[in-house]
Amino acid sequence: MKSDKYEQIFKRNKIWAEDASKKDKDFFSNLYKQQQPEFLCIGCSDSRVPANTVTGLDIGDLFVHRNIANVVSNNDMNLMAVIQYAVEQLKVKHIVVCGHYGCGGVQAAMKQESYGLLDHWLKNIRDVYRIHYEELEMEHDETKRFDRLVELNVLEQSENVVKTPYVQESYIKNGFPTVHGWVYDMRNGKLIDLNLDFEQELKKVQKVYKLNE
Ligand code: CO
Repeated sequence: MKSDKYEQIFKRNKIWAEDASKKDKDFFSNLYKQQQPEFLCIGCSDSRVPANTVTGLDIGDLFVHRNIANVVSNNDMNLMAVIQYAVEQLKVKHIVVCGHYGCGGVQAAMKQESYGLLDHWLKNIRDVYRIHYEELEMEHDETKRFDRLVELNVLEQSENVVKTPYVQESYIKNGFPTVHGWVYDMRNGKLIDLNLDFEQELKKVQKVYKLNE
């Protein structure tokens, strides 16, 4: 059965499409011809963190990949293809890994419970916990520990982006893209830049994962 919300989508879409065409008659035909987004955003699938809305960026500005808890895994052919395409074809200038406080995926990874198939995915975040075990275990305030794991997860997943050959090769050749780690605070709607030092990160990563000449 279709709900009222379902029916409304098409009504709203019609109004939105007509409005956009009224403001700029070439709006859709220009976008149809090409996309030139400056940003690739890797975010969480959570319905409360839509990348375009929280960044205020328009249609065509943002190439997006979302999964549970913004994980960057080299086994994930979907995301690896997104990164390669964004870097080599779209030539994005910035790659952002954006996590969020209150992330259900991160919270689930903190629990010693089994979630079936999802455990394989959460392992990526449990790995982050293992790497930063001492720091996290020293924090006795549960909310602060949860917030910190969200931040550390963003930093580790950003590092995983830097490890990819596409990013390393393009940066050495073109001087872009740079990689950033952000956290969105659902409690107040603010974005926080974790100020990842990309050059430093690249140097660190290249000690082991150097993939360019
Ligand atoms: Co989330």
